[in-house]
Amino acid sequence: MLKTQTQALGQYYTASQFGHLLVNSLEVQSPDTILELGAGEGSLLTAAQNRWDQAKIISVDIDHKNHELINGILPGHSHFLLNALDKNLSKSIGVQSDSVDVAVCNPPYIKSKWKSSFSELLEEAGLSNCLSVHSDFSTDILFLAQNIRLLRKGGELGIIVPDGLVAASKASRLREQLIKNHMLSGVIQLPTKIFQKTEAKTYVLILKKDMTSDGFIPLYKASKEGVIGDPIFIFTEQAVNRLDYDHYFYSKAIKIDTARVSSHKQSFSQEKPLFEIARGNITKVDAQKNNIDFFHTTDFKYVKNINSCHLSDKTKKIFNKNNHIVAEKGDILLARVGRDLDKKMALVTAGQIILSDCVYRIRPQTPEIRKRLWSFISSKDGRLWIKAHSKGVCAQSINKSDLVKLPIL
Ligand SMILES: C[S@@+](CC[C@H](N)C(=O)[O-])C[C@H]1O[C@@H](n2cnc3c(N)ncnc32)[C@H](O)[C@@H]1O
Repeated sequence: MLKTQTQALGQYYTASQFGHLLVNSLEVQSPDTILELGAGEGSLLTAAQNRWDQAKIISVDIDHKNHELINGILPGHSHFLLNALDKNLSKSIGVQSDSVDVAVCNPPYIKSKWKSSFSELLEEAGLSNCLSVHSDFSTDILFLAQNIRLLRKGGELGIIVPDGLVAASKASRLREQLIKNHMLSGVIQLPTKIFQKTEAKTYVLILKKDMTSDGFIPLYKASKEGVIGDPIFIFTEQAVNRLDYDHYFYSKAIKIDTARVSSHKQSFSQEKPLFEIARGNITKVDAQKNNIDFFHTTDFKYVKNINSCHLSDKTKKIFNKNNHIVAEKGDILLARVGRDLDKKMALVTAGQIILSDCVYRIRPQTPEIRKRLWSFISSKDGRLWIKAHSKGVCAQSINKSDLVKLPIL
């Protein structure tokens, strides 16, 4: 399917209250130079100009329509119609590398074909060797690197980044390098649905180039009006794992008696894991194509009583022949992807069925473990735990590596 220009260039523009929030979250008092890469229709520029009206503002966008729209709209502003990822950008815009005081950015969340020059951008930003290089590479990370490269030591960047960078396990080395080489002075979780035609979950990262961290990072959550509440402080070591406010907020709200958890753990046999987790291995499309009856995330809505989930036995013959993951009496089912993961769960009390690849099967080692595990998962705290450990931009997902940490109370 052909992409629209909005999709191809990631043209989702920032509403003014979030532009102001980003700009007002920076500490710098009177910068000489402000840079914006991927300036769009200029909402971040306008916010920056409002706050620092004496500064020289330089912006870049690849789209000629944006160039016509914002070229010279502000006093002291120079706009360039260029590719922001060019490694010689500093020359083209007349700015030395390592010289910009403030950079503001909402980069496009698209994929770029990998080029060898990108390694230089990443390396000069202190972000090399922390990402696997594919033919398609996340452009937001390249914009992050280019901004850092152009900033002076101690210069500040406010950048809107997607959920993957903040919470995905595959970005943990990137977070580690960011924190090691620069000072992350705050992360603000923005509300969802703030960009038209996309539900992307996004965050403002505030960082100071080449500065050392205080040892902890404040995480904030912004309202729809662009107002932030009290922060949750996390240690920099925790930040490598994740940087999203909701994770720490829901984790804090869960009341888990850790002494009880460890005493129960010790009372069970540790030779085998206390419970096994398997993910269904047939896609919805394949199951439908092969006329196989299966249990999918959408089937949770038909489960009338989550404590007593009766499955159909129809697939017995098919699953004997093939190597599918089958749920049966005593298993706990959880949705792996989708919305409202904390509400999609069931304890199987009868029947058998093949599971789609969007559903997990948790098989406890003993009835006692089942009882304890299920009473936790289906409780208010268990649901908060699932919310705290879910990740994702539009639909949420939960990883097996997190599920193995489910506490047995
Ligand atoms: C998510 S929009 C943000 C626009 C604006 N900064 C805002 O916050 O409203 C990303 C912008 O980056 C521009 N863009 C995409 N790829 C680019 C590239 N390689 N070089 C420069 N600009 C690019 C798009 O045209 C778009 O205006």
